[in-house]
Amino acid sequence: MNTQDLMNTAMLMVAGDKGLLAMDESTGTANKRFAALGIPQTEEARRTYREWIVTAPGLGDSIGGAILSDENIRQSLDDGTPFPKALANVGIVAGIKVDAGAKPMAGHPGEKITEGLDGLRERLADYVRLGAKFAKWRAVITIGPNIPSLGCLEANAHALARYAALCQEAGIVPIVEPEVLMDGDHSMERCFAVTEETLRTVFAALATQSVFLEGMVLKPNMVLPGLACPTQNSVDDVADATVACLLRTVPAAVPAIAFLSGGQSSELASARLNAMNLRHRGRMPWALTFSYARAIQQPALDIWHGDATHVAEAQKALVHRAACNRAARKGAYTDAMETA
Ligand code: 13P
Repeated sequence: MNTQDLMNTAMLMVAGDKGLLAMDESTGTANKRFAALGIPQTEEARRTYREWIVTAPGLGDSIGGAILSDENIRQSLDDGTPFPKALANVGIVAGIKVDAGAKPMAGHPGEKITEGLDGLRERLADYVRLGAKFAKWRAVITIGPNIPSLGCLEANAHALARYAALCQEAGIVPIVEPEVLMDGDHSMERCFAVTEETLRTVFAALATQSVFLEGMVLKPNMVLPGLACPTQNSVDDVADATVACLLRTVPAAVPAIAFLSGGQSSELASARLNAMNLRHRGRMPWALTFSYARAIQQPALDIWHGDATHVAEAQKALVHRAACNRAARKGAYTDAMETA
């Protein structure tokens, strides 16, 4: 493991107040989003969509790294440029989702365990050859009556840590993503408690597996009330709770924390990240940024709708969301940016 290279890559991914774009939806998830808009669910439609994303003028001003899927990292633009090269050409580091998805966990009704460790060393070597410099693995933690269980938290943390160690061995920066889901009617306080326990368990496992903290990026959920919770806390309350939870659990050696959006609206995802950086900047030892999929892509996908004549307008919407989130990283996002 070359620790200096890992640190350099992690810093590059979030340099210049930039964040990450997650565009690594599995074929199934991408097809579901296309089907909802009547877009054909073909390999070529997915490639076309991702081509106009990575060629959107100005994307590299706000995005430092983009997470690709296994299908996409092997594809090329119309002109034959492979996707990782096309990203590198505009200053964006290419990453790859390497987990094999969250599956029902045996003996744990309602809970999931992420699979994909078997053969991962060999797959990582292949992804390095294809141009990936970082990777992502997502664990899913569900809040419900009597869950998450210790068994689910520990199994997912162990898998994340084994994945992260394999990535670093291969010279790849691991994004460690334990996502506590927003689904449910639980309070923000309950999300705080579950997120705190999740992150404690994850960092204990990372230490046990000798993961080099300076050469990784954490991708957590924000501390939020459940989507069906009758009390929806203010932007500032969410910002304060999230930063308090992270300060308790994430070692200062970690260079960057990049949130997932998890089903928040695009505007709320920007406003909450902004409030964290505005209210707490001086207290935080890590860069606090974004690694959004839906909160950056969805407005643009809605405009595109599979219609080639809408591409330019969709690209503008995509780059606008990326720019709003870059501003949020500096605490400089305002409502006026949405109406300008
Ligand atoms: P969302 O921002 O849509 O939650 O996706 C982020 C992600 O990469 C999930 O693994």
